[in-house]
Amino acid sequence: MATIIVLFAWIIVALLVRTLVKIITNSCPRTRHPPGPPSLPIIGHLHLLSSNLPKSLQILASRYGPIMQILMGGKPVVVVSDAKTAKEILKTHDVDFASKYVLGFGLSKFNIYDGNSFVNCQYGTYWRFMKKLCRTQLFAGPQLDLFIHIREQETLKLLKSLVERSREGEPCDLGMEISNLSNNIICKMTLGKRCAEDPNLPMKIRKSIGAMMEYTAKLSFTQVFGPLKKYDLSGNGKKLISVTWEFDGLMEQLFKEYEDSRINDSGQEENDLISILLETYRDTSAELKITRNQIKTFFLEIFLAGVDTTAATIQWAIAELINNPKILKKLREEIDSEVGSSRLVKESDIQNLPYLEAIVKETLRKHPPGPLLRRECNTDTKINKYEIETGTKILVNAYAIMQDPNIYNEPDKFIPERFLVDHQEMDFYGQDLHFLPFGSGRRACIGISHALIVTNVTIASLIQCFDWKLKDGDKYDIKLTTGYSGAMALPLVCYPITRFDPLKE
Ligand code: HEM
Repeated sequence: MATIIVLFAWIIVALLVRTLVKIITNSCPRTRHPPGPPSLPIIGHLHLLSSNLPKSLQILASRYGPIMQILMGGKPVVVVSDAKTAKEILKTHDVDFASKYVLGFGLSKFNIYDGNSFVNCQYGTYWRFMKKLCRTQLFAGPQLDLFIHIREQETLKLLKSLVERSREGEPCDLGMEISNLSNNIICKMTLGKRCAEDPNLPMKIRKSIGAMMEYTAKLSFTQVFGPLKKYDLSGNGKKLISVTWEFDGLMEQLFKEYEDSRINDSGQEENDLISILLETYRDTSAELKITRNQIKTFFLEIFLAGVDTTAATIQWAIAELINNPKILKKLREEIDSEVGSSRLVKESDIQNLPYLEAIVKETLRKHPPGPLLRRECNTDTKINKYEIETGTKILVNAYAIMQDPNIYNEPDKFIPERFLVDHQEMDFYGQDLHFLPFGSGRRACIGISHALIVTNVTIASLIQCFDWKLKDGDKYDIKLTTGYSGAMALPLVCYPITRFDPLKE
């Protein structure tokens, strides 16, 4: 009992001292930090954060304002939750905030590729080099055009398997089917030739990356509590290292096969992404010498950043359409009137389907797969009236910004029409800071064009070719998984009912 009283008294004293220090510090004009809720010793503000991190930060912001400071994993983090302040960070002072804040919770010692990341790297020579390579080669328009046959083949494969299910009267896990589609397309774009030779390669890579993600997630959970992070009590750190080495072996084998075939089939040009990267690796006159580990990490990050985000957007769109039959009907009418009923919708039709575009925008607004934009301050900067010091970690809550009731009437509802009437001018590129599903500024997404092509065509084909009936109930239950990705908690299991068979075209 005495111990409990002492512990309780200690917590109260610590809280008082902390609050006092805060009041004194905030009253000093030279070190004015953004306001924030009172924190607890050791855990900081963890007790105020739920498993839905963007939502709990939005709730805190409604109390502490559009720029606030909280303690996460023992570190102060500045959270920005309105478009005006986001513009300061992502546009006005873009260069000063172009480095990335890594939500690592001390995981780097279990990452054999630590220090080789593109997605998480500081703003500097390596990032600029790779960004240029992405813009001019890897994800440039002409390069993406070369992959049209991959996208068409994979979409047709998905539709074919759904027609089969429809014929058998069997339900399908649509979410899983869409994830496989997204994975196969990216795998074939990156490793075209190897995938043709080994059809199981996309699944092997997905399994390998899936295991790495699983152990990283488990490890992040146990690492949140400061003192325990020194010890790998769960053994997940060891497992993460082991599965990453397996992935590394797979990569080395692929590199060797590329090298061998380059020598044997000399003169034959390859246009997959790994060939471009290996060419850059060999190029002695390149502005920067990239390393093998940087290529492996880039490859891994393209999968992590591109597969599930694209798949989640398509899944959410279909779930919202099932839940809103009037919107589904309107989209179908648009597709039928533009494309007709004798051929399958194709990529070149997309520009003539404005209602489809509005549906994709509304899906990304309501269910952004990247709801928190991470930044780190490179130079002391003043934002609003607060001093943001070099090294300060920043989270821009894109989810909260895209839920702002002053901009979006009834933000919880799925209303694509808002992008045809009030917000026609908002594009996908984060020019208007009220709509930023792909981020904004220098560190915005590099895969926007690819993601939009795949998302639009897949949604349009699934609606053109099938009626959808959920396996359980009439409405899909919109629940989110734990974490901050905004992914669906429940599988999207439904019966496809064929209305147009693309194979009989
Ligand atoms: C619907 C699909 C997608 C969404 C919603 C999405 C969203 C995002 C967001 C919010 C960011 C952070 C931007 C910022 O901090 O300002 C990002 C970064 C990134 N995305 Fe995407 N993304 C998608 C698809 C893709 C695809 C298909 C690829 C590649 C094939 C990709 C590659 C990347 C990379 C490499 C970055 C890091 C860029 C950097 O740090 O400079 N993404 N994405």
